[in-house]
Amino acid sequence: MIRIRNLWKRYDPLQVLAGLDLDILTGETLVILGPSGIGKSVLLKHIIGITKPDLGTIEVDGVCISDLKGQDLYKAVHNMGMLFQGGALFDSMNVEQNTAFYLKEHGDPITGKTYSEKEIKERVEQALEMVGLNGTQRKMPSELSGGMRKRAALARLIVYRPQVILYDEPTTGLDPIIAMQINELIVKTQKELKATSIVVTHDMFSALYVGDRLALIRDGKIAHIAEPDAFLKIEDPLITFLHNSISKDPRSLKENHNG
Ligand SMILES: Nc1ncnc2c1ncn2[C@@H]1O[C@H](COP(=O)(O)OP(=O)(O)OP(=O)(O)O)[C@@H](O)[C@H]1O
Ligand SMILES: [Mg+2]
Repeated sequence: MIRIRNLWKRYDPLQVLAGLDLDILTGETLVILGPSGIGKSVLLKHIIGITKPDLGTIEVDGVCISDLKGQDLYKAVHNMGMLFQGGALFDSMNVEQNTAFYLKEHGDPITGKTYSEKEIKERVEQALEMVGLNGTQRKMPSELSGGMRKRAALARLIVYRPQVILYDEPTTGLDPIIAMQINELIVKTQKELKATSIVVTHDMFSALYVGDRLALIRDGKIAHIAEPDAFLKIEDPLITFLHNSISKDPRSLKENHNG
């Protein structure tokens, strides 16, 4: 479980986070919604420990990571992975090298055991298969489309089997079909890895497809948090707007899809 208490962060002249409290339950997929520039990416960066709060605490499985630095921080967050908003790949590495990167760097996230070349190759192949990119191992990022780059970044993340996965705008800028593939991958990854997932998005369709709970950030705090049906019933102009932005409820697709 991740417990965030009284989190404050200022980037002058803006008070971005202002006493934010949030609990993220182990194994759930929590979606975070909110307008652009409100602090969603800043919140994710606090959770993974790359940004430090001005005030407040972030506890991951009982360890307060906001106090930690260096090796101690690394140990506390090494089973987390983040899909960054830009989905950045290393430009000078091909898809296979990109996907293998964390496995080679860190080994197994739980035991720390290093992998053999053969194991790495197999795991990379499995991960690329999962995102529908097997066969592109030798391609360079510049040779991929935007959607393929995003899926490659996702492969690089899931190959490492992190227990907590943070997704920053995973479907933004993708066409609806690729976006749907990404939504399905998020659900599939959560099931296969039994991971805790935090998904930041503007995309209400995606939010309802993947989310066990939905949260809205406003004025530096969590303004609302609830399960999807209850969330949609909250009387708030932004939630109404988001609800109206989708023509049908994607959860019906999901049930059909899973048979
Ligand atoms: N390292 C930083 N230095 C200065 N200001 C920052 C920094 N990181 C974020 N900010 C500011 O904090 C605010 C919140 O940024 P953040 O990236 O979290 O927004 P967001 O909610 O993710 O927006 P979007 O939906 O557009 O991605 C913005 O005003 C941004 O300019
Ligand atoms: Mg952002």
